[in-house]
Amino acid sequence: MQTKEFDPYISYLAGHLTPARLQHSLGVMRVMQELASIYGLDSITAQTAGLLHDAGKELTQGQMIEIARAIHFPLIIPSDRDPLFLHGPASAYVAAHDLGIDDPLILEAIFRHSFIGTGQVQSPVFCWCLRFADFLEPGRDWDEAHDRLQPLIYSGNMAEAALGLMDWLIPFLQSMQLAPHPGQFVLRQKLLQYLEDGTNEVGFDQIPV
Ligand SMILES: [Fe+2]
Ligand SMILES: [Fe+2]
Repeated sequence: MQTKEFDPYISYLAGHLTPARLQHSLGVMRVMQELASIYGLDSITAQTAGLLHDAGKELTQGQMIEIARAIHFPLIIPSDRDPLFLHGPASAYVAAHDLGIDDPLILEAIFRHSFIGTGQVQSPVFCWCLRFADFLEPGRDWDEAHDRLQPLIYSGNMAEAALGLMDWLIPFLQSMQLAPHPGQFVLRQKLLQYLEDGTNEVGFDQIPV
């Protein structure tokens, strides 16, 4: 359900994203609302992150690189400059600077949703929910993976679902002739280790992001 407080964001996105990407963003917002109740997130916060997660997706690569410089985000390897990955930090910047978002949970989840950046986050659960919502959004056309992963995600099996998402995403990118970010391979390994260690049995506070 939409509330009036999202209207200014939707107006902004309508002026900065293609109609298809705006629909995608609204879809991710709706899935975030569902995941919020499953994973104990604040509903408005979750929906806001979903709505704004791709706010900077249609900036040029040059603009994204400028933003990276402005926030001192190190561009170390070629993948770091690829808009496929760099649009996460760029979208977080747009959300903060153009839309006045200051909630660190929202900003870190948007920043990290494109599998870039390292280090601890405040809420690994929130970050993974945004990645799941981005994947599950009904406008996507990934039926087989969707049917396999949706039950895991909706039953609260976050760690298995996260590993399942990486096991699907890495070969999917390769099949599209897109090079996965090296950090995605590292993340997959960390998730395997996390599941092997059984850390997930005491909650998802430490799940690798
Ligand atoms: Fe994205
Ligand atoms: Fe997206």
